[in-house]
Amino acid sequence: MCGIVGYIGERQARPILLNCLARLEYRGYDSCGIAVAGGNLQVHKDAVRVEALKEQLPRRLEGKIGIGHTRWATHGEPSKVNAHPHGDCTGKIAVVHNGVIHNYQQLRQKLIKEGHTFTSATDTEVIPHLVEKHFDGDLEKAVAKALAEMEGSYAIAVLMDGKAELIAARKDSPLIIGIGDGENLIASDVPAVLDYTSRVIYLEDDDIAVITGEGVRVKKNGETVDRKPQRVTWSVEDAQKGGYEHFMLKEIHEQPKVIRDTIRANLYTDETAADRDISEKVGAGEILMLACGTSYHAAMVGKYVLEQLFKVPVRTELASEFGYSGQTSSQTQAIVITQSGETADALKAIKRLRSEGCPVTVITNVVSSSATRIADHVVYTMAGPEISVAATKSYTAQLMALYWMSLFSARIDLRRKDSLIMELRQLPGKVQRVLDDEETIAQHAAQIAKHDNVFFIGRGINYPVALEGALKLKEISYIHAEGYAAGELKHGPFALLNGKAPVVAIVAPDNNYEAMLTNIKEVKARSSPVLALVEEGDEVVAEVADSVIVVPKVDPLFSPVVNAVVLQLLAYYAAKERGCPIDFPRNLAKSVTVE
Ligand code: G6P
Repeated sequence: MCGIVGYIGERQARPILLNCLARLEYRGYDSCGIAVAGGNLQVHKDAVRVEALKEQLPRRLEGKIGIGHTRWATHGEPSKVNAHPHGDCTGKIAVVHNGVIHNYQQLRQKLIKEGHTFTSATDTEVIPHLVEKHFDGDLEKAVAKALAEMEGSYAIAVLMDGKAELIAARKDSPLIIGIGDGENLIASDVPAVLDYTSRVIYLEDDDIAVITGEGVRVKKNGETVDRKPQRVTWSVEDAQKGGYEHFMLKEIHEQPKVIRDTIRANLYTDETAADRDISEKVGAGEILMLACGTSYHAAMVGKYVLEQLFKVPVRTELASEFGYSGQTSSQTQAIVITQSGETADALKAIKRLRSEGCPVTVITNVVSSSATRIADHVVYTMAGPEISVAATKSYTAQLMALYWMSLFSARIDLRRKDSLIMELRQLPGKVQRVLDDEETIAQHAAQIAKHDNVFFIGRGINYPVALEGALKLKEISYIHAEGYAAGELKHGPFALLNGKAPVVAIVAPDNNYEAMLTNIKEVKARSSPVLALVEEGDEVVAEVADSVIVVPKVDPLFSPVVNAVVLQLLAYYAAKERGCPIDFPRNLAKSVTVE
């Protein structure tokens, strides 16, 4: 969602801010802006992409200190006036903000009565006015007083004309400081600063940092705290396209490596605390898995995996729905899956689980993300930065974490366990074979792209894969797509089968095979074209379906990996055929930090 950047140092801030903002584009945004101080404060913003803002900027925009923002509208439409940075009445203060200020209406009314004038519909605009109100020469103190009046979540960067410092603060919204040589940066996300440094301070809730070109001082509740810089292992190349046309395609192609890295990491770390905890305690109770979006589909696959390997009941719930129901007991072990570690609904669910005494293991891809700070245990996935809004390699990495977690303590026959571990090691090669078949999949995608409605069906462990296939297609190609448990098709969607809505059927050679075959025949009887994903060697389905995509032979337990990769490519090439902005689909954000 919204992205924050800031720069202070010896170089001109403008190109650095624009470059950092471009690196944050993947989070999803509808407007952007920068403020640069150098003699006077200049703010330039609009409801445009970063590239277009760059073109609009005046030739002379000099200054070695500045802040920038990409906005994803929540309060007020995407427009020039609502874009950040926002300012005060004097025109000397500029603020960029991520998060939501719940009491902004009251604050705004109060400030208006005190003579402040507002120009935007945003909640953010109260911040510069509060800072102006409290400023008596000390910017840090003024910011601290402003924050004390605010309720809600925030990550902010504050710039004041004439001050050789930036102020950064966070509460329930991520913010990092990139430590450079004679220069420092602020960002809401690590990839923004990778071109300049790999040393990063992760701010914690209620931290207020004063940043100059020479150093960083952090205070929490008025006391100075020591926040040590950490070295990030993600490289600039990791966060760049590396010759691929889109980040999504690059990330799809990285999946064999992601699987290999996960296996390698887990081989050497032996048993993690999280694995132990789950295997020790789970016997008595149930596992509850919570997540949103693609991570939820990984959780749904996880349910089948854990139930088969652990022999315990597993429940999955959407994190966004958990607040309204969802029972827990003293024996509930929770697993929350969140790629970003910042999804507001996932964080809320973790807090509730903890307050009810449930131990929470978080599976995430982002070191020191908010979820890692409030969980009991953390399992890191090995996906590297995922830039494309549509999740691909993070899904596979989540599945790998779940496979490994459950295989380690699996309550199954030893021979079966060994054979699964062996299969798992062969998975990178199998996924590579799917990728090698890219051209064939692209041809099928060109056919899919001609339609406005597509159904995906699967059963058992491949039911969530059908949901994920539909989600991928609708996210990036804007084709209306529905995922269904194959047995449910005749309870409604059949009414829509008219020859114009193709059905993508995922057929694995498991105990659902015969039922899937019957479902395909039912669809064919209603004249809808069927594209089936089948395992190599299967000749039966090809006789019934209109066309097939052949996937390598894997144990059915691992079929959600190879099948999902096919569906990712199908969605990618359908979106490409339709000329869609694949990496940054309209209205979507990579990290959804509002409920
Ligand atoms: C957004 C992203 C999805 C992602 C979902 C959950 O909607 O666009 O790709 O699956 O959030 O994100 P999380 O970071 O919690 O896995």
